[in-house]
Amino acid sequence: MNDVAKVHHARQLRGSLRVPGDKSTSHRALMLSALAVGQSTITGLSPGADVLATSAIVQQLGAARDDDERLVLITGPDEGLRASAAPLDCGNSGTSMRLFCGVVSAIAGSHELVGDESLSKRPMDRVALPLGLMGARVSGHGELITPPLRVKSPEILHGVEYHVPVASAQVKSAVLLAGLAASSTTTIHEDVRTRSTTEEMLHATGVDLDIERVGEGRRITLTPGRPRRHDWYVPGDPSQAAFFAVLGAIHPDATLEVLSVEASPERVGFVGVLARMGADVRLVENGQFHVLHSRSSSLAATEIHAREIPSVDEVPILTVAACAASGVSAFRAMGELRLKESDRFSATMSLAKSLGCRVWSEGEDFFVEGVASAENFLEFTFASLLDHRMVMAAAVAGCAGNGCTIESASTVSSSYPHFFRDLALLQ
Ligand code: S3P
Repeated sequence: MNDVAKVHHARQLRGSLRVPGDKSTSHRALMLSALAVGQSTITGLSPGADVLATSAIVQQLGAARDDDERLVLITGPDEGLRASAAPLDCGNSGTSMRLFCGVVSAIAGSHELVGDESLSKRPMDRVALPLGLMGARVSGHGELITPPLRVKSPEILHGVEYHVPVASAQVKSAVLLAGLAASSTTTIHEDVRTRSTTEEMLHATGVDLDIERVGEGRRITLTPGRPRRHDWYVPGDPSQAAFFAVLGAIHPDATLEVLSVEASPERVGFVGVLARMGADVRLVENGQFHVLHSRSSSLAATEIHAREIPSVDEVPILTVAACAASGVSAFRAMGELRLKESDRFSATMSLAKSLGCRVWSEGEDFFVEGVASAENFLEFTFASLLDHRMVMAAAVAGCAGNGCTIESASTVSSSYPHFFRDLALLQ
């Protein structure tokens, strides 16, 4: 792909589409299949580069991958995964790096994990600390333990009782994956319920988990055990559907639907936010999954707290919605945005500013004064900062508004290689 993408205003948007398979489910399907004995199948695996990195790593650790036309087939070795002498390259993918820290902590020996320029700036102390309590040593640069990482794993890990200090599904998952091979149970406490993909998928493989709701959060207790093989079906990624939900709502003449979307409560907080803003956006149940409908709407500002969107993945695109709304929207407790593929706190504010909106911040909160309609957006140029979600947020703003130029746009491939094709198909 040419690394500069030009997005033009679309006169009209119509149609239905399928977004890539859920990224979170895809990573875990590969990892759990590799940890199991025998052959598992995966339907609908995300084609993104992040998931490809995970696929290459499970093979490096000893799993076999054979694809047929529709299915990905992963066979976990009977004797379990083994350390690789070569570095495990996680590319742009924080999920790969954090979850593999958990997986390799349970493989005795020494491991090296590396990533691209963006991943090499991201903090891994959040997984190094609990895995250290279990007996593995994860080291990297400085206090934040940035990659490249070295993991020294003991012959036997012990279980841990750990209170995750930030709302992070990745930290929870790294500890649970390590806990599978520990000598005793592992208990995780989370104050905010983050996506439960790992727990649900572990449950499907027969691993013994006890989950209790505690206030706004959860306590999860895992009994060590080896996952059983499974036939995985990966539904559409709600975080990708969110881009089309906002596109439909802010475009002056749009009727869109996204088919077969995963809609667990921790993932679809964005739908409630958009509805509160007055958007004609609905999730309609269709068998096991949901169809997301979105139509042109007139939006009003709102107040959003990070609790509503745990993991804050949809904040950049909700900010684009706030830019097209009337009034001042407040985004509260958004500090975690700074630690994503780019510093999304400042990248999101700068995107809003380039659309012509007044933006300001106070501590962990930021504010956007919308310009009442995407028709009032300025044409703009945006640098992707190696951040796929910033590329897609900018593209939605350009398509609904008055066009844009996105530099280093190919980074969109880390989660959605066909994003620009799908966008064009709706026009
Ligand atoms: C993910 C968790 C989230 C999210 C990421 C995927 C996962 O990060 O941002 O895109 O698959 O567990 P947190 O660890 O901040 O929740």
